[in-house]
Amino acid sequence: MKAVLTRDRPASVERLALPPPSAPSGDIDAQAMLSALPVPVVLLDAANRFRFANHAAEQFLGVSLMQLRQITLASLLPEDNPLFGLLTQVRQQGSTIFDHDLTLEGPRLYKRGTAVQATALLEEPGCVLLTFQDSSAARALDRQIQFRGAARSVTGMSAVLAHEVKNPLSGIRGAAQLLEGSVTDGDRELTVLIRDEADRIRDLVDRMEIFGEKPIERRAVNIHRVLEHVRRLAGTGFAAHVRLTEVYDPSLPPTWANRDQLVQVMLNLVKNAAEAIASDPALIERGAGEIVLTTAYQHGMRLAVAGSDHRLLLPLVVTVRDNGPGIPEDIRSHLFEAFVTSKPSGSGLGLALVAKIVGDHGGLIEVDSRPGRTEFRLFLPVIIEAEADAP
Ligand SMILES: Nc1ncnc2c1ncn2[C@@H]1O[C@H](COP(=O)(O)OP(=O)(O)OP(=O)(O)O)[C@@H](O)[C@H]1O
Ligand SMILES: [Mg+2]
Repeated sequence: MKAVLTRDRPASVERLALPPPSAPSGDIDAQAMLSALPVPVVLLDAANRFRFANHAAEQFLGVSLMQLRQITLASLLPEDNPLFGLLTQVRQQGSTIFDHDLTLEGPRLYKRGTAVQATALLEEPGCVLLTFQDSSAARALDRQIQFRGAARSVTGMSAVLAHEVKNPLSGIRGAAQLLEGSVTDGDRELTVLIRDEADRIRDLVDRMEIFGEKPIERRAVNIHRVLEHVRRLAGTGFAAHVRLTEVYDPSLPPTWANRDQLVQVMLNLVKNAAEAIASDPALIERGAGEIVLTTAYQHGMRLAVAGSDHRLLLPLVVTVRDNGPGIPEDIRSHLFEAFVTSKPSGSGLGLALVAKIVGDHGGLIEVDSRPGRTEFRLFLPVIIEAEADAP
């Protein structure tokens, strides 16, 4: 849906596109102000070349200003992307047009539900100022509240399971083990079966225990160490059939977290990605299965989650992307609920656990999925001064 808005006189193109003229002391130049804005802003010329992009836009598009200056919008998006239609319209009408739900999808860009505002610059015919608003953070917040509800529903059950199942289970297992020594070979198969199945149930209950309401012990954690550990476990184990690629921002500050729980989160996400790839025999046969782990510092991502410590900011972004077949349509709306699974031997606890841990940390998780590309994005807190000083 588009709406034509009334138009204010835009800032001078000279000041945005070119190196700032030496501003009189005490004067703040427009480029510096735009660069500081947490909203992505770009200026395109008549041929859709990038004349300017602020820092938030570099992050949003995933391309540095230096690279942007050498390409056109057509290098990022295919010709049929609706953004080009919007640009044509803006240039023809000399107006401002707002589209609140664009999908920006190209070889290295994938953003759904993006709000775009395009404004024609009168002084420079053909030049258009674009601002983007990634609504995914807001959507993630909405969904996060649902995830927390889903995790809570399991919290009570985990306590019951721990008491009512685990104790009798160890009795059953012990009895089977005792019998093993005195029964015939044929019957021993049965006692082994009892023992193995009891172990399986115990493992399941152990996994459920994390859903209990225990305070988490946190400290400064280097996310790359966590990822490195997970990558090693995955590469030699459940993801041995997949290429694991890492794209890390080495300058990331530590996150404020429980290290072991973060390992669990990442293990579950990477394991799901590996299992999705394994479910596509053609992908395996071509040896083309790939999981990409990325980390980034997202400037402007200063969301504080309701109900969590308001001093925690969420600028660390960790993504796990795979090129498997995508999340089945019918489970997407319940993805983070416990016992939702499409796998014959899956327990459907992995993502519920992920949502619970991420929620406990005051972080966010969101997902985009289509055939050939599934991406889980995790927003994690960093420590700021006030947090470090807290008693
Ligand atoms: N990367 C992915 N690609 C495609 N589908 C996925 C992906 N990650 C999760 N899913 C879907 O979400 C479902 C739920 O995942 P979840 O990790 O909660 O449970 P599970 O993997 O089925 O079982 P468990 O993790 O308990 O062994 C999966 O069964 C699968 O259908
Ligand atoms: Mg799983």
